[in-house]
Amino acid sequence: MKTQVAIIGAGPSGLLLGQLLHLQGIDTVILEAKTPEYVLGRIRAGVLEQGTVELLREAQAGARMDTEGHVHDGFALSFAGRQERIDMKSLTGGKTVMVYGQTEVTRDLMDARAAAGGISIYEAADVRPHDFYSDQPRVSFVKDGKTVELECDYIAGCDGFHGISRKSVPPDAIRIFERTYPFGWLGVLSRTPPVSDELIYANHARGFALCSMRSPTLSRYYVQCALNEKPEDWSDDRFWNELKARLPEQAAANLVTGPSIEKSIAPLRSFVAEPMQFGRLFLVGDAAHIVPPTGAKGLNLAASDVYTLYQIMRKHYREGRSDLLEKYSELCLRRIWKAERFSWWMTSMLHKFSDDPFNQRMQLAELDYYTGSLAGRTTIAENYVGLPYERIE
Ligand code: APR
Ligand code: PHB
Repeated sequence: MKTQVAIIGAGPSGLLLGQLLHLQGIDTVILEAKTPEYVLGRIRAGVLEQGTVELLREAQAGARMDTEGHVHDGFALSFAGRQERIDMKSLTGGKTVMVYGQTEVTRDLMDARAAAGGISIYEAADVRPHDFYSDQPRVSFVKDGKTVELECDYIAGCDGFHGISRKSVPPDAIRIFERTYPFGWLGVLSRTPPVSDELIYANHARGFALCSMRSPTLSRYYVQCALNEKPEDWSDDRFWNELKARLPEQAAANLVTGPSIEKSIAPLRSFVAEPMQFGRLFLVGDAAHIVPPTGAKGLNLAASDVYTLYQIMRKHYREGRSDLLEKYSELCLRRIWKAERFSWWMTSMLHKFSDDPFNQRMQLAELDYYTGSLAGRTTIAENYVGLPYERIE
């Protein structure tokens, strides 16, 4: 078996890259360990930056997002009983975000790939990249009990944080930067109207809370919880009471509760692998970096990596420009570190780290200062809508 770009992983990174390359006439094969149903069963974040939105349109997978997604001009920060709006649109000269679930993005990309006739091999076992420091890399995998060799020009490791791609590089060729946080997020999806038209990020003495949504009838809420807790420890009643206690009065009064349709706990982590290119193997998305979800950057950072690799591959195959290939890491990492910084900062400012009253006062002063200053609100807004993509010339 032969292709130009072998893509490992059919999450949003692999599917988006595959679709964009396909539309440029560049041949790809996607290898995915799980079934499509499993991939679609994961509930993840739901805020898309404008750059991500435009890339999905360019991939011809944006039609449903454009009808069913919701454009948001602002969001709220709540602390000390106050609720302060960050008017992203006016603070950034017109930029907004789109609220549209990652699960739906994935479904649209799967449908687009199927319609375009791209090859995706699901339930590919024991996927392994080989010889990526040579001119003839390949990927081996086992399908229906048979070992298959996929020869290719390049390998895109889009296989997420736990994937095989990053683990396949020599340990002395890679450097890891990491921070774990001493708490997790308990997330609940419920078929209830959202408490507010816009997202609310809440700092509270009991811990962080987030009110998000998928549609006018589907809410997504989170509360900070301890790392050793399990979803079973949280009855729906306990969850709603805790959420209510962490919201400002008005929002708490508006909260409509109902049965949860999904409940899960996720740890929070900051993680960056450097570099992101190893010969002909490129790491993309969660395979190379993780952000805590507080800045809504995970999927968007994956999309900006895809944009960078897509442009580099397009110029390589269509214009014979090979000089850009070695710039991939540098181009990606500049933007990644800035998003890591914003995600870490939002996490630090909004969560309860300890009972230390000094820390709590510092957080409140920081929130009061940033929301009370035009410069402060602008820095929050321009990061939240997404910093510009690096120019590829
Ligand atoms: N072989 C083949 N496929 C694999 C392997 C492997 N060894 N290991 C993992 N995969 C698959 C996973 O099953 C998954 O479908 O790779 C895919 C990776 O998808 P994601 O984890 O969603 O990562 P990515 O596509 O980079 O998505 C960006 O940003 O913050 C996040 O939540 C956000 O998931 C989103 C991510
Ligand atoms: C979500 O809707 O799931 C969501 C929104 C914003 C975040 C994180 C998660 O920062």
